[in-house]
Amino acid sequence: MEKVIEVKNLTKEYKKGTKAVDDLSLEVYKGEIVGLLGPNGSGKSTTINCILSLLKYSSGAIKVFGKEMNPDSYDIKSKIGVVFQDVSVFDELTVYENLDYFCGLYIKDKAKRKELVEEAVELVGLQDFKKYRPKQLSGGLLRRLNIACGIAHKPKLIFFDEPTVAVDPQSRNNILSGIKKLRDEGATIVYTTHYMEEAEILCDRIIILDKGNVLASGTSDELKELADIEEKVTVEVDDLDEKYIAKISDLKNVDVVTYTGNILLITYKKGKNNISDMVEFLKNNRIKYNKIFSERPTLNDVFLELTGKELRD
Ligand SMILES: Nc1ncnc2c1ncn2[C@@H]1O[C@H](COP(=O)(O)OP(=O)(O)OP(=O)(O)O)[C@@H](O)[C@H]1O
Ligand SMILES: [Mg+2]
Repeated sequence: MEKVIEVKNLTKEYKKGTKAVDDLSLEVYKGEIVGLLGPNGSGKSTTINCILSLLKYSSGAIKVFGKEMNPDSYDIKSKIGVVFQDVSVFDELTVYENLDYFCGLYIKDKAKRKELVEEAVELVGLQDFKKYRPKQLSGGLLRRLNIACGIAHKPKLIFFDEPTVAVDPQSRNNILSGIKKLRDEGATIVYTTHYMEEAEILCDRIIILDKGNVLASGTSDELKELADIEEKVTVEVDDLDEKYIAKISDLKNVDVVTYTGNILLITYKKGKNNISDMVEFLKNNRIKYNKIFSERPTLNDVFLELTGKELRD
């Protein structure tokens, strides 16, 4: 598989002695959507900005499209699109003019540019706002403009740094399918987020970062294999007598039992028919419950397993 990005032993210190990125290595292959998933401060943006040669780094080597990446690698940069974490658009220009400007940095042909700008407007759903200026847009609409500006010229490699913060769920879904469409048309995509659900829906492969280093990487299914949990069963039950907690702990396959509020959570390391065994137990003991459901481990469970803390802080 063709490597589009190759980062080897990257270390970045903003201040001497504190490593924002610590000996990090990763590879991104042509045509994949790779998610960089990690809590606040784990080094996602710093890694991206080093790859883009926007930041000087302390040590390491970075190649993009097979060539060493430097601040003056303009041939490589012309194939890259970036959606920065902080919105970067011109307040003086309308939505359409902003898009036309950013696209115009790469596409000189007017007719072609118009087509691309319209396509980008469609992708983020800003059809009704083309004449608005950024200050007249809500936070979510502004985010959508920020995204469109980074991708209108159809770059071969696109970085999205937490692009959907403050975007409502429906628009978020539109944006995520738009990003998949860009991938299907041949783009390679690096997507940072601390929303694990987004990473799961969108990414072909996920790299989990913590403290400037790669904790684990793989498809979301592969990563979940790392969690030491097989299944979680949740029961909504009011006023459960304490004596049942111990009884449930003794049931087959049960690993940990907690009861907080009206939520009874039972985790299993292995086993089959765990949920039906639990239903049976509840029935036999005449315990009335509102809901019962079973879940597979989440990426948060993986993170918890590897670091002892939650992915979300
Ligand atoms: N300009 C800077 N000067 C000094 N330290 C910085 C600077 N930018 C980032 N850092 C530090 O580097 C570490 C990594 O930050 P970075 O912004 O890369 O994390 P992130 O994973 O993108 O976080 P977030 O999810 O909050 O965007 C943090 O400890 C942060 O405080
Ligand atoms: Mg960041």
